Amino acid sequence: MRARPIVTIDGPAGAGKSTVARALARRLGFLYLDTGAIYRAVALAVSRSAELRGQVDLGAGPETLPAPDQAALGALAAGLDVRFSDSGTRVWLVGEDVSAAIRTQEIGERASWISAIPAVRAGVLDLQRRLAGEGGVGAEGRDLGTVVFPDAEAKFFLTADVASRARRRTLELQGRGEDADPVQIRAEIEGRDRRDSERTAAPLRCPEDAVRVDSSGLSVEAVVDRLASVVSSRQRS
Ligand code: DC
Repeated sequence: MRARPIVTIDGPAGAGKSTVARALARRLGFLYLDTGAIYRAVALAVSRSAELRGQVDLGAGPETLPAPDQAALGALAAGLDVRFSDSGTRVWLVGEDVSAAIRTQEIGERASWISAIPAVRAGVLDLQRRLAGEGGVGAEGRDLGTVVFPDAEAKFFLTADVASRARRRTLELQGRGEDADPVQIRAEIEGRDRRDSERTAAPLRCPEDAVRVDSSGLSVEAVVDRLASVVSSRQRS
């Protein structure tokens, strides 16, 4: 039995998971754990490695990568020094603040690609569990309720229609000064959904015991209220 609960929020890209998970964690006095940032940090480390960079071919499926190369990416993921700030919003990779560098569209694509490799997922699994420690955590990702924290006290699956998600992602990237073409963003989101849902290793899927919330047309506040009330009812029971 954990000292404090773990709350998981899974769902597709652009459903508002980060904003909601961050706000929920703040409201509950929990640690915020952004597991996508870990996959992004791994993708950044791979793209900076002269030896490993060439293994990521976005034009081909990751399953076409020979087993020894998959193992090399897994070894890098397992040994990587990734740390978060107390608020969970800043990320360090081997001592370097990579909070901005991991947020580009390209690193998101690469993270989606490498995250389909079972050895990479296995490498990241321990780190996620270690970071969650004794609980009191609001964690967001793709497979948290199904694989990483199957015994979490409260699980949510946050979705939104693809048009709302593409709109949100476009505004987010433009807000950071990146070029963002809404048509291209939508196509990339659809591609990422397909890859994240169809991979054999821990595909994106709603956990059976999760509360499903569609955030299209809802304010962040309304979504956080809904989640917080479920968490507090679980804590009472
Ligand atoms: O949530 P995000 O866009 O920052 O995540 C980037 C990629 O990382 C996402 O496309 C799939 C992968 N990911 C994953 O496979 N499992 C997680 N728990 C979190 C992210």
